[in-house]
Amino acid sequence: MTRIGIIGAGQLGRMLALAGIPLGRRFALYDPDPEAPAASLGAFTCGRWDDGERLDALAASCDVVTYEFENVPVAAAARLAARVPVHPSPRALEVAQDRLKEKHLFRDLGIGTAPFFAVDSHDDLTRAVASIGLPAVLKTRTQGYDGKGQRVLRKAGDVDSAFAALGGRPLILEGFVPFARELSILAARSRTGQTAFWPLVENVHRDGILRLSIAPAPGSDVALAEAAMTLAGRALEALDYVGVLAIELFEHEGRLLANEMAPRVHNSGHWTIEGARTSQFENHLRAVLGLPLGSTGTTGFAAMVNLVGETPDPASLLEIDGSHLHLYGKPARPGRKLGHVTLVEPSRDALMSALARVASVVDEPSLSR
Ligand SMILES: Nc1ncnc2c1ncn2[C@@H]1O[C@H](COP(=O)(O)OP(=O)(O)O)[C@@H](O)[C@H]1O
Ligand SMILES: [Mg+2]
Repeated sequence: MTRIGIIGAGQLGRMLALAGIPLGRRFALYDPDPEAPAASLGAFTCGRWDDGERLDALAASCDVVTYEFENVPVAAAARLAARVPVHPSPRALEVAQDRLKEKHLFRDLGIGTAPFFAVDSHDDLTRAVASIGLPAVLKTRTQGYDGKGQRVLRKAGDVDSAFAALGGRPLILEGFVPFARELSILAARSRTGQTAFWPLVENVHRDGILRLSIAPAPGSDVALAEAAMTLAGRALEALDYVGVLAIELFEHEGRLLANEMAPRVHNSGHWTIEGARTSQFENHLRAVLGLPLGSTGTTGFAAMVNLVGETPDPASLLEIDGSHLHLYGKPARPGRKLGHVTLVEPSRDALMSALARVASVVDEPSLSR
């Protein structure tokens, strides 16, 4: 029986393994946290990201390795790839780990982005601010997630404090995009070169953390959806990509600007478990196994609400007709993603009513828009 190695055993690893069990696959999971949410779904190794010996043992026990976490050191990924097929490739990982390389890739592929500059010193920052203007966003090039490792610079006085907070690491300054809304496109490419794209998703973040996704994104016309598929297709081909790739986008003045990409299944694709004919998790596995990709068509109008920091009483969510609750089994902590709820309804109106019911249970301001 094929055994799939997953680097990272968080909620994404857990949902990947859950999608692979009906396909008759077994899993080996690897994570530094002994209590990681997916640890119980296969053979589990607790090891550091750079523990060569443990990673070698994982490679020896698997037919193919993938990741649910992109901050694995590239050297460790390359070491794995020397022993077992690894998808997506270490090169895709390397680009997606670094906001500067990511933005250069987008630019090289003719994909619009906010203006950006590399910042390695206070002088660089002064020059970048002079060129881009304010407001702007200063971010660490690597390791950031859920809005961590970034500061918005609104006035000249913010420059020094932002540099004091983030300096000493490689940084990037980006122009602040006063976007109309945030969207994402999820795409899959199989080892055979077959590609598939789910519909555009609208995403609402608060404090840098995704709170709500709606799919298909309301009010997007065919041209916008095609523009998103075209840019994602270019990134897939350029990276000779295998697996699911997520690209976060800003819609600004009718155009799409690429913000960042994730070389893995993505939170804004969780709705696909119930809301698409094939979930992002299943298609990711099909892609890395070289199996035909499944239909990315929708089963209705879907919304996904993240449960962040605390989980309401499960019964109060399950009482909502048609709701699907996913709890990751993680200890509660402020700002931590603990689970999500998905709704799929036959009409947009029915979806909005169901969402209003979720809003009465989940204390999240972005739900009452
Ligand atoms: N250049 C920008 N202009 C406006 N908002 C931004 C910009 N960059 C990031 N943001 C906001 O911050 C959120 C998190 O930033 P992002 O670059 O996606 O980092 P993370 O890796 O933490 O998700 C985005 O979803 C968006 O809401
Ligand atoms: Mg993001």
